[in-house]
Amino acid sequence: MKKNQKLRLNWQHLSFTEYASGIEVYQAALFFKDKKNIQKKILDHALDEYRHSRYFYNLAKKRGAIEGISSPSGLINIGGLSKSPFPTKKSKEISFCSYLYVGELRAIEFGDRVKENYSNKEILKIFQIIDQDEKNHAKGLMNYLSTKNDTRVKLSIMWHKMKFIFSDRNSFGLISKLKTKTEQFLIKKIFNFFPETIFETKNNNNNFEEAYLNRKRLS
Ligand SMILES: [Fe+2]
Ligand SMILES: [Fe+2]
Repeated sequence: MKKNQKLRLNWQHLSFTEYASGIEVYQAALFFKDKKNIQKKILDHALDEYRHSRYFYNLAKKRGAIEGISSPSGLINIGGLSKSPFPTKKSKEISFCSYLYVGELRAIEFGDRVKENYSNKEILKIFQIIDQDEKNHAKGLMNYLSTKNDTRVKLSIMWHKMKFIFSDRNSFGLISKLKTKTEQFLIKKIFNFFPETIFETKNNNNNFEEAYLNRKRLS
């Protein structure tokens, strides 16, 4: 296919999306305290998402395209936490793993579209790395899901695919129209689960670097 630059991406927004996905995966890891091997894999998955976030943040920074968006607002409204099943409960394990799995499939498809539309070497290299990571994540999640009830898994995957299609149709821009009250409520809820100190998620735009440096602490 001809590379025609039809797709115009907002790197900072993408960086919020990856960061939000890191938070979701991190919460999933909290449910596996008694299974250290699995928990370690999930934490590595979360760190991959932070790394992806950092790639995009750096792209935005390099292009001088950083907008003044606070981290919580960016994560919720742009990153997708407002539509996410997270924070969640261990009893919803099949559902949240299916949600994460569908998210990985979407990320892989999205990467393919980007590769068709961009010819910039740096961008292509980043998406090549991300593609491998997301394929690993999808494989890991599917391995785990395959130990669960097959019909429930299939239904759950289908349900999350449908929900994504529905929300895609409803949000043309990436920003959903959340009322301030709802937003405040979500911020509180999220930080109940994730104390700010873990991700150094403050109201500034410099937290990506710090999340990356936290790698050692988490793995
Ligand atoms: Fe990712
Ligand atoms: Fe992923």
